[in-house]
Amino acid sequence: LPAPRIAVAGAAALLAACAGEQSSLDPRGPAAAAAAEAWWVMLVGASAIFALVMGLVIYATLRAPERRPRLRPNPFILVGGLLFPITVLTALLIYGTTVGRRMVFAGEVPTLRIEVTGHQWWWEVRYPADAERGWAEAVTANELWLPVGELAEITVRSVDVIHSFWIPQLGGKLDMIPGRDNTLRLMAEAPGEFRGQCAEFCGAQHALMSFVATAAPMEEFEAWRRSREVGGPAAAVPAGAAALGDAGCAACHQLPGGPAPEEAGPDLRHVGARAMVLGRRGFDREYIGRFLTDPQRVKPGNRGHLRGVGDDEVDGLLDAMETLR
Ligand code: CUA
Repeated sequence: LPAPRIAVAGAAALLAACAGEQSSLDPRGPAAAAAAEAWWVMLVGASAIFALVMGLVIYATLRAPERRPRLRPNPFILVGGLLFPITVLTALLIYGTTVGRRMVFAGEVPTLRIEVTGHQWWWEVRYPADAERGWAEAVTANELWLPVGELAEITVRSVDVIHSFWIPQLGGKLDMIPGRDNTLRLMAEAPGEFRGQCAEFCGAQHALMSFVATAAPMEEFEAWRRSREVGGPAAAVPAGAAALGDAGCAACHQLPGGPAPEEAGPDLRHVGARAMVLGRRGFDREYIGRFLTDPQRVKPGNRGHLRGVGDDEVDGLLDAMETLR
C-alpha cells in the first residue's frame, strides 16, 4: 500500500474511535464528559510539548558539532529543564484534581442506589427496596436503567474473579473485586441507550460480557423498575415457568414463583423482555436456540450449560422463556 493510503486508513481508524456506543470520547453524562475533557487537554498539551522537544532535538542535531556549547547551568537548562516541567506538572496536578472531583460528583448526594454483581460472564443487577418511594426490590440481568438527571450510586462486587464495570459514554470504570464493595456514581444527562462492557480480562467470555444501560425520564424508569420487581402475586406467574421448572432450569436460574436456585445463573424472571440476553440485543430466538442445543460452542467455557438440550426440546423451551416478561 502506498503511504498516503495507509495514512488515510490510519486517520479513519483513529477518528472512528471518537464516536459510537462504546466510546468514552462521546460522553452523555457529567462523569464521562470530565474524563473526555481531560483526555483532550492531555492530548493537546502532550502534542505541543512533544513538538517542542522534537524541534529542539532536530535543531541540536543539525547544528555543527564545533558550535555546540558545553553543558553548564545556563538559563536554558534552568527554565527548560526545571521551571517548565515544574510549572506544567503542577498545573496538571491541580487540573487533574478538579477533574477527579467532577468524575466522582464530590459533594453531591445520590438519589438512587443500584447493586451490580459480576459473574463469569454476566451481570446481576439489583435495585434495593426504597420505602420512601414505595419501591419493592427489583432484579434483572445484563440490563440497567437510570432515570435521567438523577445521581445513581452503584455498588459493584464480584462473586468469582475480578471484573470491571464500565459504561464508556456515562463514566466509570471501576473494578469489581471478590470480597469487596466498590462504589461509583453515574448520571445520564439525556435519554438514550448505552453499552456497558466488562473492562478487566476475566476469562474466555470476557469480550462478550456486556450489558445495555438505558437512561429514561423518571416515569418511564419507574414503570420499567416496577416490571422488574420481585415477589409479585402468585397469580402473575407466566405459563412458561412450569415447563422451565420441569426442564431443570430452576436449579441455577430464578424462575417466577419458584424457589431460590442453588447456583447463581442469570435470573430468568423477565428473560423474554430483557434488553440483552447472552450478549445479544433482546430475545434473539435463533441465537438462544443455538446456545441451548450447543452451549459450549456458542459460549465456550460457560459454566452452567455443559451439555445441550435435544433439538426436539428447544422450541418448547424458547416458547416458555418468551412468556417470562
Ligand atoms: Cu468480566 Cu471481563
